Amino acid sequence: MTTTSSPHYSAENMIPFIDLAAQQAHIRPQVDEALQKVLNHGQYIMGPEIAALETKLAQFTKTRHAISTSSGTDALLLCLMALGLRPGDGVIVPSFSFAASAEVMPCLGAVPIFAEVDHETFTLDPHKLDDAMAAAQAAGIRVVGIIPVGLFGQAADMVTINHFADSHGLWVLDDAAQSIGAQRDGKVVGQMAKMTATSFFPAKPLGCYGDGGAVFTDDDDLADITKSARVHGMGKNRYQYDRIGMTARMDTMQAAVLLEKLAIFPDELRRRQVLADRYHDALAGLVTPQKLANDATSSWAQYCVLLPNGTDRNTIQAALKQKGIPTAIYYTQGIHQHPPYAAYPIETGGLEVTAELCDRILALPFHAWLDDATQDYIITGLHTALNA
Ligand SMILES: Cc1ncc(COP(=O)(O)O)c(C=O)c1O
Repeated sequence: MTTTSSPHYSAENMIPFIDLAAQQAHIRPQVDEALQKVLNHGQYIMGPEIAALETKLAQFTKTRHAISTSSGTDALLLCLMALGLRPGDGVIVPSFSFAASAEVMPCLGAVPIFAEVDHETFTLDPHKLDDAMAAAQAAGIRVVGIIPVGLFGQAADMVTINHFADSHGLWVLDDAAQSIGAQRDGKVVGQMAKMTATSFFPAKPLGCYGDGGAVFTDDDDLADITKSARVHGMGKNRYQYDRIGMTARMDTMQAAVLLEKLAIFPDELRRRQVLADRYHDALAGLVTPQKLANDATSSWAQYCVLLPNGTDRNTIQAALKQKGIPTAIYYTQGIHQHPPYAAYPIETGGLEVTAELCDRILALPFHAWLDDATQDYIITGLHTALNA
């Protein structure tokens, strides 16, 4: 991949935090042609590109079934419907995540049980799952499943989580909205849980030009239910309904875009790793980056670091902004701290790691088309801001 640089950044001329335009410039002719084909055949719903994309996604994730959906949130919802989540059931989920990971439970009348993440990898801490079970039990809630999140592109410790789930009779649904393309312990995302949901929101590592998502599973029955539920619960015959469902299909246009994006995704993943390594080496000793577990690769949806304890994050962000370097905070609060979630149980040990990460985390500009010179400028900017 070739990249170009533009060093004249300022508060009026900010570096793009994620540069979707640079990627589009690279594949624009292919995307134009793909969209033209959809306009010509006119099958806007479940057109041929949907089946083509699902075949390619199943190959990419090495799963039996890839089922495209209207968003990552709908992918999670469809999985929960297929897994048979019932009102009042409890599902363990990390509080240090995007709201969608937890909101899908109350949408179905079920209860999120907020759990802790690991201090180094920022993903669900499997060694504290007993504490989450205890909190549910104290609240009289029966836990039926766990939703680990592949945060910032890195899968959670799914081997240990699956082991815990098996020994407690729970299912595992991997929220891989941010982590498609990652690997861990010899498996690719999609294969690591009974069901997996991902998002193709434009800013995600593999994004479309609107909303989109997908469900992955090796289980034929769960796949059948998911496909039915995404079209109103329709059975084998049209206008015959087997279950309650919803409209959760992907548009053909988005599938056409994604087919082109998927073709360059492996190259982009390699470039993302190079950029993550460059940040890692250049920022060593200055800040604490998200740790990659042994035998893990990440799709680096975000490059997040912890600022040193006691740093005034607002001052650092303002100093970087002056130099045209945008930053973001994922996440300012655990999900459990937001008013709609206040009544749900949190694990018995409390969520101190989540609170600390929320206080210290900072996301730096990151995307596959970031050029070395601009990245060096960001690195120098962060060194200067922290040493001021
Ligand atoms: C961890 C996580 N889960 C779920 C979602 C929901 O995906 P979507 O925005 O496609 O509905 C997101 C999107 O940001 C996410 O980051």
